[in-house]
Amino acid sequence: MSNETAAPLPALLGLDDADPVLLKAVTEGLAQVEDLLHTVVHSDVEFVNQAALYLVKAGGKRFRPLFTLLSAQFADGNTDAVITAAAAVELVHLATLYHDDVMDEATMRRGEASVNARWDNTVAILTGDFLFAHASRLVATLGSDAARIIAETMGELVTGQMRETVGPRNGEDPVRHYLSVVAQKTGSLIATAGRYGGMYSGAGPEQTEALFRYGDLIGTAFQISDDVIDIASPANESGKTPGTDLREGVRTLPMLYALAFDGPDTPRLRELLSGPVTEDGAVYEALDLLRRSPGLDQAVHTVGEYAGRARAVLDVFPPCPARDALELLARYVVARTR
Ligand code: IPE
Ligand code: IPE
Ligand code: MG
Ligand code: MG
Repeated sequence: MSNETAAPLPALLGLDDADPVLLKAVTEGLAQVEDLLHTVVHSDVEFVNQAALYLVKAGGKRFRPLFTLLSAQFADGNTDAVITAAAAVELVHLATLYHDDVMDEATMRRGEASVNARWDNTVAILTGDFLFAHASRLVATLGSDAARIIAETMGELVTGQMRETVGPRNGEDPVRHYLSVVAQKTGSLIATAGRYGGMYSGAGPEQTEALFRYGDLIGTAFQISDDVIDIASPANESGKTPGTDLREGVRTLPMLYALAFDGPDTPRLRELLSGPVTEDGAVYEALDLLRRSPGLDQAVHTVGEYAGRARAVLDVFPPCPARDALELLARYVVARTR
């Protein structure tokens, strides 16, 4: 299938000022990934095709494949294996989105009705499984190391999701719990995206390890910024319904910071956030209080700290366009909260 049916390539997240030669390579790589996503997700059953390609076509930022491609630019660039790995990582991500929207009872994804809302939970769960299956098949073509790595990553990711659902243990610091959960549920796959980029472009072990580490940190920053956006941004910017975390009763970092702040609105906020916030009026009230709370800025500050730690990892690389591009990507993750 050609690109005609694909969503237009996303704006290259904060990379407009990157080296033009590098940008050309990454843009070409993303187009190849896009083609692969459309050809690899295939079923003889038309409805399976329709449901599986639904969110592929809806677009999304392609943050993870973009990071795989950027990671590959330190060495041999867009090898066939790098393209395959980048597509596989996006497919795993997609599968988690199909399932996550069931768990979160979300109605909007990538600016469209979510799969569970458009069809139902059964379709969303089965299609998520179908996408996991295709991701695994694709990764198997890269060899047993790649297969083991993605299996371990999926194990980490769902453990993080489960720990989020269960919440902190009695006496456990909720901020520590939150930070380790987001590293596990989101940092893990983004770390693997970078690791694959290093592995399949012929980078050395030290460089590949640095890409993994950078991915873990920037992935954690990325999730915190997503949690800020869930409170701060209108739906037409995020493509998702604001307040989903509140409705699910998930206490994200801006909420934890806001609850710990000793201000006049805090008792009311504690009352509202004592469980899942179900009434629309209560969601709007909680969003309003959170938007005015210093907790939001404090969470943005934490995004900046993680992004700073990610950039420090880049010191193992000599100055070069790929390193500059990863610096810009770290800046983008912070800038998107503003
Ligand atoms: C959403 O990821 C889920 C998180 C881990 C925050 P993205 O924000 O990358 O979603 P898409 O791919 O752009 O839709
Ligand atoms: C889900 O986190 C992260 C995954 C591992 C899928 P969220 O629930 O915050 O993601 P969104 O906001 O629905 O995209
Ligand atoms: Mg969600
Ligand atoms: Mg979210």
